Amino acid sequence: MKKFLLPLLALVVGASLVSCDEQPRIYGAEPLEISSLRQWERVHRPTIYDFFEKEVYGRMPEKQVPIRYELLSEGEALGGKAVRREVAMHIEGMATPVPILMYIPAAAEGAVPAFLGMNFKGNHQINPDPEITISVNAPKGEELGSDPERGAATSRWPLELLMDNGYALVTIYRGDVDPDFDDGFQNGVHPLFYAEGQSSPAAEEWGTIGAWAWSLSRVMDYLETDKDIDAERVAVIGHSRLGKTSLWAGATDPRFAIVISNDSGCGGAALSMRKHGETVEAINKNFPHWFCDNYNKYSNNEEALMVDQQGLLALIAPRPLYVASAVEDDWADPEGEYLSALYASPVYELYGKKGLASPMPAVDSPMMEGDVAYHIRKGGHDINLYDWTQYVKFADKYFK
Ligand code: GCU
Repeated sequence: MKKFLLPLLALVVGASLVSCDEQPRIYGAEPLEISSLRQWERVHRPTIYDFFEKEVYGRMPEKQVPIRYELLSEGEALGGKAVRREVAMHIEGMATPVPILMYIPAAAEGAVPAFLGMNFKGNHQINPDPEITISVNAPKGEELGSDPERGAATSRWPLELLMDNGYALVTIYRGDVDPDFDDGFQNGVHPLFYAEGQSSPAAEEWGTIGAWAWSLSRVMDYLETDKDIDAERVAVIGHSRLGKTSLWAGATDPRFAIVISNDSGCGGAALSMRKHGETVEAINKNFPHWFCDNYNKYSNNEEALMVDQQGLLALIAPRPLYVASAVEDDWADPEGEYLSALYASPVYELYGKKGLASPMPAVDSPMMEGDVAYHIRKGGHDINLYDWTQYVKFADKYFK
């Protein structure tokens, strides 16, 4: 008899822990003070996750499509410092494969940690390396104001720094997964998942950011099979709209061991309810394809959000998180990005991790003592060597 008593007691206590907080409250834009880790994991986390899925980024499809990975090319690069590898990700039904571009430190012995991030303008723009295959879907001419030149985004991808510190870089081009304009979701990966008769995602189904994040997970599937990469030490990183993407990828896929958001702003790290800089209304109007349809409910109605963006950051806990801003990037609301990371910190503390300290640090004084890191640097909306230098330092804490 006695041996049944203990489990019974545990059950009763467990149930009451949950029932006293069953009704998820409206969290607002405030610190996520949750009474226990158990409460967080059993009640709050699933509720908040559900909210971001159905109301913000849209649910990713449950259905799977066959994906095949094919080695395209491999060679010495960066004057012998790196091995360049290109792998085609063939997603069944897509007109063109998604080329995965990798640089792996040549000096490495065994599997190395990696940074994985999407690029804005095509793989061939991340470095002047003439061997990088030109992205076939890259903008030509006026589109997005870009040019198709090799190496045009070199300053955003400091390969030397990464190779010298023993990190691989893995990148794909956003336009190869889902072109960044509103075409009613006729191109890109969305149509592959439509049910019979469906021609656009339902109100709670994924938009473009969701598709981009999904594709980063499909790259991760490949990395798990690449013997030169340690898939348990992969940091997912992104700048701006691709920072929103890295956060959602980090929240939805626990295989990303570190999550980095650079100047991600509205719909990324920044709190929406402050309405400072870009607003939900502005982002939905200018980029109607980024979020799910349900997100339109919050245009000019931020108070109705069940939780602000600190909830998204908290979904990444206990994995290390780095949020960064730039002084002149008022559109992305640096203070809102900092506060959001601060307000997510109590959840990290539930796991025995160290959250972000207060007050907001001075310019060019990174705060990375804890597991939630933050910096604000001088200059404008961009990702540069200064930013990457901090991310490498932060990654070293966990990966070295
Ligand atoms: C625009 C947009 C931002 C976005 C940025 C970018 O400024 O309003 O939300 O982050 O583009 O991706 O560079």
